[in-house]
Amino acid sequence: MQKLTQSPTDAAFVQDPYPFYDRARAAGPLFYWTDYEMACAVGHAEVSAILRDRRMGREAPVERAPEIPDHLAAFYACEAHSMLELEPPAHTRLRKLVLHAFTSRRINALAPEIEALCHRLIDGFPQGSFDLLDAYARQVPVIIIARLMGLPESRADDLLAWSNAMVGMYQAGRTRTMEDAAEMATQAFCDFLAVYVADKRRTPGDDLISELIAAEQEGEKLTTEELISTCILLLNAGHEATVHSLGNAVRVLLEQDHREIDAPCVEELLRLDPPLHMFTRWVYEDLEIFGQRFARGDRIACLLGAANRDPEAYADPHRFDPTRKGPAHMGFGAGIHFCVGAPLARLEMRIALTSLMRHCPDLALVEPPRYAGLYPFHGFDRLMVRAF
Ligand code: HEM
Repeated sequence: MQKLTQSPTDAAFVQDPYPFYDRARAAGPLFYWTDYEMACAVGHAEVSAILRDRRMGREAPVERAPEIPDHLAAFYACEAHSMLELEPPAHTRLRKLVLHAFTSRRINALAPEIEALCHRLIDGFPQGSFDLLDAYARQVPVIIIARLMGLPESRADDLLAWSNAMVGMYQAGRTRTMEDAAEMATQAFCDFLAVYVADKRRTPGDDLISELIAAEQEGEKLTTEELISTCILLLNAGHEATVHSLGNAVRVLLEQDHREIDAPCVEELLRLDPPLHMFTRWVYEDLEIFGQRFARGDRIACLLGAANRDPEAYADPHRFDPTRKGPAHMGFGAGIHFCVGAPLARLEMRIALTSLMRHCPDLALVEPPRYAGLYPFHGFDRLMVRAF
């Protein structure tokens, strides 16, 4: 396996990781990324196959379970019940309970609310230049997920701050300060949710938390720890990736002067510049795949951003083509961990981008946006535009 070195915090890489992915693809279906000390898959077929291969998974094998330092006890206690970090049968049980509550009826019913929220935010846009992430892209997902869960919109800023701090745990180059912030945010988030869970146990409402409390799978219900952890997963996953998807999409649409949004256009935007670029898998048994041998306890990374620009899967892959046909992109993953929130994210993106382009026909970038150094997250920290 060819070894390649590329710092994930390097400024040029953060701005444009795609040339590195092209180089990596030329190195073979799998390459060894020395900075991560891990084998990585870059091709669409390979990433898709690894994500679906049941001989690998998200949960660390027992002998590789991480030692949990005291200063991260709450964070890991929360992660221990997160379906994203579990494998069957625990994963199947949690995922079924969530899917039972996260119905397409509940999601589609949100369309008028999402549209009204987008219009309200657009009406508040200032004259002159402003940050579209703060004024729009950061607002829509968190307010919608808060409403869906029956949490007050007035706490949206707290939810954003907790979630940002927790997500810092998955960033390249994380520091002790980031770890302390993640731990404090987890504690505050859990305390906050414990109050709402207790309240909704007493007086259920028409919201996702109440549905999750009521949901039963073969006679089994979620424990309070599982409920809180699931709510945190949905809140974190539910806004961070969608914020970056919206920001990345607006940049492409403005640069390409494309203002008609439909479902295939949203998929093409998510293919071309997805917000999450890497997910890893643990190997559970000695195996050979794509000509390489792996032992139980090894890890393989799937580079979703690279798979989405594989010329074997997509003709002229660096080009934006809203009418593109081709295999499903890897932006939402594949296999048993395929994004639970994909229908909600797609709906939010379609409505938020359509509203923006229809109501702000003169929307323009006022400076070239810069990606924040958050790899494997891929999104801007600000997006300065002029709307009128
Ligand atoms: C899983 C991407 C929005 C909830 C995933 C995975 C990806 C992903 C790639 C799979 C990770 C893996 O295989 O290791 C995205 C993107 C989004 C988005 C690009 C926005 C454009 C959302 C939303 C929600 C959500 C809105 C919920 C409200 C989840 C959950 C999982 C997940 C719960 C774990 C599923 C499992 O482990 O079975 N997401 N996501 N995501 N996502 Fe999303």
